[in-house]
Amino acid sequence: MNELIQLLPKAELHMHIEGSLEPELMFKLAERNGIELPYDSVDELKAKYNFNNLQEFLDIYYQGCAVLQTEQDFYDLAWAYLEKAKDDHVVHTEIFYDPQSHTNRGIPFETAINGLYRAFDDAQNQLGISFHIIACFLRHLPEQDALDLYPKIFENRDKILGIGLDSSEMGHPPEKYQKVFAQAKKDGFKVVAHAGEEGPAAYVREAIDILQVDRIDHGNRCLDDDILTAQIAKAGLALTVCPLSNLKLQVVKDLKDHPIKTMLNKGLMATINSDDPAYFGGYINDNFYQLAEAVSLSDDQIFTLVENSFKASFLPESIKEIHLKALNSFGSHE
Ligand code: ADE
Ligand code: ZN
Repeated sequence: MNELIQLLPKAELHMHIEGSLEPELMFKLAERNGIELPYDSVDELKAKYNFNNLQEFLDIYYQGCAVLQTEQDFYDLAWAYLEKAKDDHVVHTEIFYDPQSHTNRGIPFETAINGLYRAFDDAQNQLGISFHIIACFLRHLPEQDALDLYPKIFENRDKILGIGLDSSEMGHPPEKYQKVFAQAKKDGFKVVAHAGEEGPAAYVREAIDILQVDRIDHGNRCLDDDILTAQIAKAGLALTVCPLSNLKLQVVKDLKDHPIKTMLNKGLMATINSDDPAYFGGYINDNFYQLAEAVSLSDDQIFTLVENSFKASFLPESIKEIHLKALNSFGSHE
C-alpha cells in the first residue's frame, strides 16, 4: 500500500507555506537575520508542538513567521517544501500564504510574493511541479484590513490565482468577509475558505452560500448536517481534508476516528493534504500512509483520493485530463 502511495503522481491543494517552516530552517533564518527566538534549541521548539486546539497552534505558527524577512527567506522556505513535494511525487501544488502575517510586521507585500513566486517558477522548470498561489486573509482581523490589502492582491493577479480565508475560525464566520470575497469573485479570482475545521456546519453553509467558494478547506463538520453534505456531494464541491492536522489539532481524537471513509461513502470529493507539515508531523505522503493504516483504506480508495486531487484542482480541464490519464496508466484501479 505504501508503495502505491509513493508511486502515484498527485496534487496537493491545501498547504500553508508558512506551515512548512521546519524548526531547523527557522533557526537558520533567525541567525541569518539576527532575530532572537524565544527558544534555545530546535528540541525546545519541537517540544512545544503539542496543541489542544487550532489557536494554540496558530500562536506558535505566527511567532515562527518572524524569521521570514527577505525575498530570499521566502524563496528558501518555498524551495525546502518543493524538494519534499518532489520526493512525495507531487506534480502540482496549490499553496496558501498569509500576506497579512508579513505586511503587519512591516514586510512589504512584494517581498513575500516575489520570493515565493520565483521559487515556484524555478521548481516548475527544474522539478517539473506546476503551481498556483492562493493568498489567504486572516479571519481574526477585521474585514476592513482585508479590503485595504485587496488592491495589492489585485495588482499581483499574474502571480496569485485565488484568495482564501484562514486563521481562528470560531467567532469569525465566513459571512464577515462577504464584501472582499464578492469583489475578488467579480475580478475573476478563485475563492476558497477554511470552514468546518473547528467551526460548525453553518459556517460551511455560509462559505458556500455567501462567499460562493470554489472549494472548501477542511469541511469536516459538514458531516453534522445530512442535507448540507448531500448538497456538497451533488454539487461536486471538493473538500481539502488534512488528516494529520485533524489529529494534531484534536479535530479527531484518534486517526482511527477520521471520517474520510464516511466522506467518500457519502459521495464527497475529498482530497488528502498536509496543511502545515512542519508542525503536524508529516508531508502529503505521511498523511496518506498514516491515514491508510489507521482506517484501512483500500487501494481503490487511495486511487480515488489521488484522482480527486487533480479533479478538484484549479488546473485547466485539458491539463487535468493529461494528469488523470497518466494516473490511470498506473492501472491499479479498475
Ligand atoms: N493557518 C495555517 N493553518 C491553518 C489551519 N489549519 N486552520 C486555520 N488557519 C490556518
Ligand atoms: Zn489550513
